[in-house]
Parts: sequence; C-alpha cells; structure tokens
Amino acid sequence: MAREYPVEPYRIKAVEPIPVTTRAQRTQALGRAGYNTCLLRADEVTIDLFTDSGTNAMSDRQWAAMMVGDEAYCGSSSFYRLEDTVARYYGYPELIPTHQGRAAENILAQCLIRPGHHIPGNMYFPSTRVHLERNGGIFHDVIIDEAHQPDADVPFKGNVDPDKLHKVIAEVGADNIPLFWIHATVNMAGGQPISLGNLAEVREIADHHGIPVILDAARAVENAWFIKCREPGQADRTVADILRNICDLTDGATMSAKKDSFANIGGWLGVRDPSLAEAARGLVVVYEGMHTYGGMAGRDMEAIATGIEESVREENISARVGQVEYLGEKLLDAGVPVVRPIGGHAVFLDAGAILPNIPRDQFPAQTLIAAIYQVAGVRGVERGAVSAGRDAVTGENHYPELELVRLAIPRRTYTQSHLDAVAAGVIDLYNERHHITGGLRFVHEPPTMRFFQARFEPVNGALL
Ligand code: F0G
Repeated sequence: MAREYPVEPYRIKAVEPIPVTTRAQRTQALGRAGYNTCLLRADEVTIDLFTDSGTNAMSDRQWAAMMVGDEAYCGSSSFYRLEDTVARYYGYPELIPTHQGRAAENILAQCLIRPGHHIPGNMYFPSTRVHLERNGGIFHDVIIDEAHQPDADVPFKGNVDPDKLHKVIAEVGADNIPLFWIHATVNMAGGQPISLGNLAEVREIADHHGIPVILDAARAVENAWFIKCREPGQADRTVADILRNICDLTDGATMSAKKDSFANIGGWLGVRDPSLAEAARGLVVVYEGMHTYGGMAGRDMEAIATGIEESVREENISARVGQVEYLGEKLLDAGVPVVRPIGGHAVFLDAGAILPNIPRDQFPAQTLIAAIYQVAGVRGVERGAVSAGRDAVTGENHYPELELVRLAIPRRTYTQSHLDAVAAGVIDLYNERHHITGGLRFVHEPPTMRFFQARFEPVNGALL
C-alpha cells in the first residue's frame, strides 16, 4: 500500500514555470543530446529529477539572509556565522569553506592522500573516487554485500562490513591507510543509511589503528532521520542530536551544502585537527579563495547557515523523506523493480531487472533513463556502468552489481501531482519495456567522469 503523501510544512510564495514538451520534441532533443540526460537543456525537461543537489527551493528566511551577506574579502561576518552554525550542528571546530562538496574533497585528498595509499569506504561517490585516485590512492569498497542487492530490504544498507575492513587493513597495512571515507547516506547504494552502531564500530577499528574517519556529510541529516526511525533506542532523540552523534564519531567531514542544507551552491571541509586545518587553509587559497569565503559569496554562506538550521527541523526532514517514499512506494505497488528500502533523496529504478534483455555493454540504465525522458519528459540520471567508468589500471569498464536509474527529488520543489505524473510516466514505460530491444553504444567517451559528457547512439537505430 502506497504511503500517504506528507503534508508539506511550507506553502508556496514564488513559482517558476516549467517547460511542457511533446514526445516528438523530446525525441529530437534526445538525439541532439547524444542520449545523455546530462546534455539535455533544462528547458527541454518538464520534471527534473536529475539531482537533489543545488536544485532545492530555498525558504523566504534563506533569501532574506542573503540580503545581509557580508561580502568582505577578509573576515566576512557571514563566514563567522557559518563557522558557528557548523560547530553547533555538526561539531567541527575548524571550518574551511569551499564552493561545493568536491572542492572540499580535493583539498582533503591533497592534504592526506599520497601514491600507494589505500582508502576504504562504504561504496564510492564518483567525485570522491576521482580525487583519491588523482592523488595516487586506491579505493576499497567495504560496504555490506546487501548494498549491492537491489532487493535486500535491510534497514541500514549503508553499513560497513567490519570483516571487509579488517581484511583491507591486514592486506595493505594500517600505515598505508590515511583515512576511512564514510558516506551517510550512501548515494550510489540508493540513498541508504549507515547505523550509529555500525559507525561506532568503524570508529573503534579506526582508533585501534590510529586512522582518521572522514564523513561525507552531504546527506547526513537524512541519515540521522533514518536512524531515528529505524535504529533501536533512537526514536526519542532529536534529529539534531543524532546528527551531532554521527559527527562526533568522526574526525572531519566534507560537505556539499547543496543537499541537506537547501543551498543552491556551497560546501565546506570541517575538521578537528588544527594542523590539518592549517594545511587545508593553505590549499583553499590556491584553489578556492580566501579561507573566510573559499569560493562562496558572503550571501551563500548566510543561505547555508539558515539552511542548516532548517534542515534538522523534524517537520522538514520527515516531509522530505516521506515525499521520496511516496513516489517509491507508488512504483513498487505497480510492480516496477525499485531498490528497497526507498532511499533518502531518490528513488532508484533497477534497470538490470527492468531491461534484462539489454547486455551490460549496451548500458541498460543509460538506455532506460533516455527512454523515460522520451516517454514522460522526466529527467533522471544513470547510476551504473557508465557512471562507474573504467579501471584506472586495466582500462576495462567497471560493471558494478547495481545498474540503476536515479530519480532524485529536489527538496521542497515539486508537489504531489508532479510526483504522481512521474509515477504514471515510469509505469507507462515499464509496461512498454518490451519495445526496447537494443541499448546504447558510445559515440564519444571522455576520459574522466565520462557520464557527464559522453554521447551515445542506439545500437538498433532508435530506442522505442
Ligand atoms: N558526496 C556525495 C555523497 C554527493 O552526492 C555529491 C554530489 C558530492 C559528494 C559532491 O558534492 O556536487 O557539491 O561537489 N552529488 C550530486 C548528485 C552531484 O547528483 O548526487 P558537490
């Protein structure tokens, strides 16, 4: 049974028209974009579920805060407000502002990772993996096996498997591990959370070997909500308290403020160790800007500080995750194979199960998302072999177990009728799936993060 649609804890004050297109226009747009939804123009998309990153609706309070942004080059008071707010809610005393999350990853990776280093993590995010590989590091996925199984309905699919972690440490030696990189929630596993109990276990292993734990905090508030709802003994705690607990178990965090914090741009690196902070400040001035703005305008820092305060309010986070669950359960009810449990920021369609006749080297998820756009005008993104790229050493395609399409829901942006339209479009396509008899092949394949700019053509000349 589909869950009830949550009552949004806000009302609409400004509206933005959305483009309406015909199927013929979309077919043409898709060809122009090389069957890559990343290359569609936004004005060709009716409902844009490409990402929940930077696409959120800001509140009137955030817009108002932007007017008081202090644009001083040095020592902006907006920086100090952000620093105080991060310290209060996330608990990291040293704050290095960056223009978005991957810039924080860049700086942290340059500070800590050297050739020959090994970095265990609960699955990878593409930008994180690129940064650690560019600095000579090798990534090891130590997430539990269930995370790779779309049907495994377990509450904390983002958990680390301690045995896998011990095995990596035994194989490469603790001295060659500069950090554990822990995601909360795990985007590539389907927006799945890690439990507090598991994170505490990771902390213990890290302490035993003297290895720092770094958190990818982009969606840690959503993770905290799942902990409150699912982890025994946590129901009576506030989300803010649980968020702080997550962070207290780590030594630092890279943050994309474009997710949980509702901002359109921005990020930060938060750490405890003053010498690491000093090294990071040395790099932020090279890549981003002064260490008191780091690639953001003062007004951006104000929007983030207000966004952080709003993000932990229970009515906001419960409606946000409830909206995602509403769409996911609607699709499940119609029999569409979807990753379970439904994640915090997105519904992930199991493209491998929907298009079992398309071979992996014809990219079933890329094919599915192109077809969904063509049929429904909805834009999602591939999270499968195209996103996984090629092995840095052998040059072979990575074929991750998960071959998914992600429909990410921007926060506070779409209404119930939008999500109903998305569900109807995806269900229509699911019922038409037998008409898709061939997948896609590369026409242009960029060497780095290929999914953004790759171009494809249908192996059969047309998709549908
Ligand atoms: N970490 C995670 C878990 C992310 O999902 C992202 C971005 C980043 C880091 C990088 O942050 O974009 O501010 O540089 N994810 C977006 C997405 C792009 O669509 O999932 P950024």
